[in-house]
Amino acid sequence: MAIVAIDGPAGSGKSTTARLLAARLGFLYLDTGAIYRAVTLRALEAGLPMTAEAEIAQLAATLPLRFVAGGDETGRQRVFLGERDVSEALRSMEVNRRVSEVAAIAAVRGHLVEAQRRIGRGGNHVVEGRDIGTVVFPDAEVKIFLVADLECRAARRLAEMRARGDRETTLAAVRASLAARDRLDGARAVGPLKKAEDAIEIDTSRLTITEQVERIMGFCERLVVKAPQSHVENRPR
Ligand code: DC
Repeated sequence: MAIVAIDGPAGSGKSTTARLLAARLGFLYLDTGAIYRAVTLRALEAGLPMTAEAEIAQLAATLPLRFVAGGDETGRQRVFLGERDVSEALRSMEVNRRVSEVAAIAAVRGHLVEAQRRIGRGGNHVVEGRDIGTVVFPDAEVKIFLVADLECRAARRLAEMRARGDRETTLAAVRASLAARDRLDGARAVGPLKKAEDAIEIDTSRLTITEQVERIMGFCERLVVKAPQSHVENRPR
């Protein structure tokens, strides 16, 4: 089973790139950020303070999470917690604000890293996150580290939020939230956002999504499995 690991900060274009890349390669797509977000949503809804590490770790250990393919070529997925579709709830500003705190809890990461390994090695996957090439799949077949300048990432995030109908959030608020998450994600003791030594770094600030995908496809060529030759064997009985 082959793994393409895509790491990078929020807004670097990971999700769209990883989804389209998975569709091009015929691989499954795993959004590990959605898993950290789901634990955060459960903690918030349970009224837990982010300091309740043992309780939050327990939520991570028993997460009834399901990814359901959207059924189109964009590879978009719906995320379910039990029977409930939480795809939109996972993207709320409240979850955005708290998720880095949840992701910094070592016991939470322990449970989620294990879950990601289990899912990932169940099939060919493009896996996106922060620590995929360094911690979750250090032996990934291809490792990509995406970067982009803060201004550019904030503008992209705001455009996504506007497209989802958010008219209130300002560019300054998005910029501040991304910068705060960069700081927390980069500084935590366990699984910080870090480029693996053998990862290929791509700056997406001035690339279109199509250009990003094309560039990464160039590094994945050896993973594209040729259709097997039909083979007829004449074996005497
Ligand atoms: O990619 P995203 O913005 O949905 O990620 C949400 C948060 O989860 C982000 O602040 C960092 C954290 N995260 C992580 O710590 N490790 C991962 N593999 C993926 C996400």
